[in-house]
Amino acid sequence: MKPHKRRQETEAVRGGTDLCKKNGPLSTPIYQTSTFEVTDSDEQVRATNTDRFYTRYGNPTHTVAESSVAELEGADGALLFASGMSAITTSILALLKSGDHIVAQRDIYGGTTKFFSQWLPKLGIETTLVDTTEYDQHERAIRTNTRLLYLESPTNPTLRVVDLRKTAALAKRCNLITLIDSTFATPINQRPLEFGIDLVMHSGTKYFGGHSDLICGIVAGRRDLIQKIHETRTTLGGTMDPHAAWLLLRGMKTLAVRVQRQNENALRVAQFLAQHSKVRRVHYPFVEGHPQRALAMEQMAGGGGVLSFEVDGSGEDARHLAESLHLFTLAPSVGGVDSLVTIPVLTSHAMISAEQRQKMGVTEQLIRLSVGIESAEDLIADLEQGLAMVNPARQHAEVG
Ligand SMILES: Cc1ncc(COP(=O)(O)O)c(C=O)c1O
Repeated sequence: MKPHKRRQETEAVRGGTDLCKKNGPLSTPIYQTSTFEVTDSDEQVRATNTDRFYTRYGNPTHTVAESSVAELEGADGALLFASGMSAITTSILALLKSGDHIVAQRDIYGGTTKFFSQWLPKLGIETTLVDTTEYDQHERAIRTNTRLLYLESPTNPTLRVVDLRKTAALAKRCNLITLIDSTFATPINQRPLEFGIDLVMHSGTKYFGGHSDLICGIVAGRRDLIQKIHETRTTLGGTMDPHAAWLLLRGMKTLAVRVQRQNENALRVAQFLAQHSKVRRVHYPFVEGHPQRALAMEQMAGGGGVLSFEVDGSGEDARHLAESLHLFTLAPSVGGVDSLVTIPVLTSHAMISAEQRQKMGVTEQLIRLSVGIESAEDLIADLEQGLAMVNPARQHAEVG
């Protein structure tokens, strides 16, 4: 963990750039090139290990964005990828080999679960899934060949919160690498490396980009691990396109202000839903009644912009409600400035079995909201009119 030179709001805007540089463009240039010219063979050899050799290895536009992420996370280094899934798969393939074992939380992003359960076994890598907040289960699942403790916090889509200090300490004791998917939190709300986690990953598609217009993955952390992952990225080829990296840099400049606004809006929406008679359960880390609220408030600066809730009705009612909203656009993904709504069993968790979904608490009635930066009053009014169309009614929502 590297100490922060400046506050997060400053690093989000100015990170990665050389503040002493004069007479250059203020906006980072896009090196929209696949290759770099050299003057002679000696220079060619020297260029091989730099970001001016061949873009699959690196690119100066990527370097600025990667330094900026590293500063935000307090990491030795960071890497960009073509997608969040590319960041996850490349990192795991870089760090593990056949015969190794992973302990991972049960309720994580569906694409990651699919990689663990359907792809890694083909390579001789097994995964044991454990309940997110049952730490004795994490410990009991560790074997002599376990190499990685894989975490996600808050989780998608049920917003459970993992104790970062506890899991990092367990991993240190058992000599495991820790990798956390911190997409829903962003470094504005949570900096896992400060708690002793080795690697933090993001689907940069979400909050980092912030405008639902790019696909990107990010991994940041310890130098030796980042070096291995870099080598593997070069081989597997999941490098980001330079133009998309530039869009990412532009998005990052407003990361702090967007996330602060989304924290405020999402909390208000969660509070509204929690008291609504047609809502059975609300999942949001900072709302009263969430089972890990105290922990969330200790390790996070804000609850984030994603929440989910169960309609007091059928799966059909949940679908009708999602379709009846005007300001929450019916689309998968999270983290953009526009509010979105989705039904996880149809999107983010469609690719995993019904049995696994049940264990994760992902029901047909569950609706996930990505709260944007619009007016909270307008968003709540939209939900109010949508809920008015749902028929069954009970007394009070459960929160958790
Ligand atoms: C928590 C989380 N992690 C990882 C991913 C994968 O990211 P990407 O879609 O950028 O590959 C997603 C995508 O929705 C996600 O929600």
